[in-house]
Amino acid sequence: MKKHKAENITWHDSKVSTGDRTRRKGHKGAIIWCTGLSGSGKSTVAITVERMLFERGCHTYILDGDNMRHGLNRDLGFSPEDRHENIRRIGEVAGLLADAGLITITAFISPYIADRNIARDCQTSAPFIEIFCECPLEVCEQRDPKGLYKKARSGEIKNFTGIDAPYEEPAEPEVVIHTNDETVQICAKNIIKYLEEQGILST
Ligand code: ADX
Repeated sequence: MKKHKAENITWHDSKVSTGDRTRRKGHKGAIIWCTGLSGSGKSTVAITVERMLFERGCHTYILDGDNMRHGLNRDLGFSPEDRHENIRRIGEVAGLLADAGLITITAFISPYIADRNIARDCQTSAPFIEIFCECPLEVCEQRDPKGLYKKARSGEIKNFTGIDAPYEEPAEPEVVIHTNDETVQICAKNIIKYLEEQGILST
């Protein structure tokens, strides 16, 4: 398959380098990719991490599954093909934001390993940090913050992740957080600690 449909296209480089942006912002750009079941705490952790980073003076942005499906991805549903396209587009957008020097936090179920790997390989030199929001299905189902598991069990929603659609756990995520056992503050601090260890944030 061809990589792009268009022909006769030329890449234009910026005269502002990644190093220039890092010096201006005082931190590196990065993609913090949260993956996990619906109700596993991805959005809550993303919001908490962003607030902590903001307090430190970092430039950040969150891309959240439910939000993006109101706009950029409003034409996509939950078939495997649509989820693939959802994650492909978000990978590209996250890559652009990280290139601009932002610490970009995403919160998508992103259930397929292959799709997450495509996002990991998007066109940016910024580090991709996969965060597995690990939480047993029973706990997510018990939390059921949007009432969707109940609907999925009754057959009102089809292809619901964990019920009648798959979730492929990451084999080698950079960070695993246990949202069932640890508070959101601890989970967020573990992510920040990883960013410090990797030199993305200065300590
Ligand atoms: S993904 O699988 O393509 O990565 P995404 O993170 O964008 O999913 O959207 C998941 C959110 O959509 C869930 O948190 C839930 O609120 C809602 N949703 C609606 N239908 C489904 C479904 N069939 N499976 C999973 N989530 C769904």
